[in-house]
Amino acid sequence: MAVITMRTPQALLVACVLSLSGGRLAAAEPTLYDRIGGEPVLGRVVADLIDHAASDPRTGRSFHGSNLPRIKTLVTEQLCELTGGACRYSGDSMREVHAGQRISQGEFFAFTELLQDALRRAGVGLSARNELISRLAPMEREIVERPSAGLGAP
Ligand code: HEM
Repeated sequence: MAVITMRTPQALLVACVLSLSGGRLAAAEPTLYDRIGGEPVLGRVVADLIDHAASDPRTGRSFHGSNLPRIKTLVTEQLCELTGGACRYSGDSMREVHAGQRISQGEFFAFTELLQDALRRAGVGLSARNELISRLAPMEREIVERPSAGLGAP
């Protein structure tokens, strides 16, 4: 078997080419965004989520009079960024956007359930669903202003 030593320029060239092509050939891990199905699926999931959240008796009160198309656009943008898609969320912080709505922990959990339902309806797999929910979980402390399980107006 030929042994390549690092003494000749040819051997150095071979080593460089091998290491460069190795880097390029390594398969990139799919992002959560890819696993969900990219923009078409995410857009559908968010539209479905917001329509249900606005009409569900557990979460609907906050959305009365809100601009639903705007919320859908911004939530899609935000989830695209959060899952590794090529988007930048252009809205305000979660604390600013939800300030004063007195959202309870119960309402937050109901909203998360509606998201799970929308993901399931769009055919998103279990591990991607769970991963998205766990990425959203830290936002609870910025959105919830009432620690109670109560639903509806405070
Ligand atoms: C992890 C969970 C949540 C995320 C990621 C999220 C994200 C967002 C985003 C990106 C917007 C648009 C911001 C804008 O208009 O500038 C928004 C608006 C809004 N969200 Fe949430 N939200 C969450 C939970 C909730 C919950 C639990 C409720 C109520 C039950 C809620 C009610 C609303 C309402 C009413 C608006 C419109 C506010 C307005 O028009 O000023 N959100 N949310």
